[in-house]
Amino acid sequence: MSEFDPVAYRKMVRSYQQRDDPTGWFDNIYRDANGDHRAVFWADLEPNPYLIEWLTSSPSDPAGHTAVVIGCGVGDDAEALSEAGYEVTAFDISPEAIRLCRNRYPDTRVDYLVADLFDYPSEWASSFDVVYECNTIQVLPGKYRVMARDAMVSLVAPIGHLLVSCRSRAVGEQEDDIPLPLDRDEMNGFVRCGLTEMSFEAYDDTQDPPVPHFFAVYRK
Ligand SMILES: C[S@@+](CC[C@H](N)C(=O)[O-])C[C@H]1O[C@@H](n2cnc3c(N)ncnc32)[C@H](O)[C@@H]1O
Repeated sequence: MSEFDPVAYRKMVRSYQQRDDPTGWFDNIYRDANGDHRAVFWADLEPNPYLIEWLTSSPSDPAGHTAVVIGCGVGDDAEALSEAGYEVTAFDISPEAIRLCRNRYPDTRVDYLVADLFDYPSEWASSFDVVYECNTIQVLPGKYRVMARDAMVSLVAPIGHLLVSCRSRAVGEQEDDIPLPLDRDEMNGFVRCGLTEMSFEAYDDTQDPPVPHFFAVYRK
């Protein structure tokens, strides 16, 4: 796909999901960008404003604390966490996404790595003060969404935070969508995993037409 074609995109994603290879297609999207991070169709090319707001209003001091960015894409949110003062690890299952990040930010302090959320290095367990997830669960199907949630929770250090940003939908609606937004019950899954919900925002973004989203902050 050189030009983004939503019908071809959904067909391609479905074909991977039908053969139970839910993560096999991500690198295709980044390779189609031909080395230009601006050509990745889902990249906003700016940090999430809700992350920035949390960073500016959060009482926790980033100095000496760690953050991990899951499915970091082309790196905007990882760089924002790093600029705020966190020691940041950012990973993606796509080697091409990580190559784009390293080329885009040659002088970065972020440690960009190829890694799989479902098989991350064992020393990462319970080790990050901030775990940041933006739009990864929604591109996964069925049981992989629950596995992703559990893996995200398992990365959070004691008294650490987990920030979740995603598209949203009403319970029972849009069930065949790709991406499949999260509903409130899926979000409540983070609380069922033992985290405390510190804040929860439901909002429409600035696209035309607007797309409903959630931004939630949890604490272990
Ligand atoms: C929709 S993109 C969002 C990228 C970025 N977070 C953003 O908001 O622009 C989802 C990202 O998750 C990555 N991803 C999907 N499954 C993953 C896994 N199991 N481990 C690590 N990264 C994964 C994909 O390669 C992709 O970069």
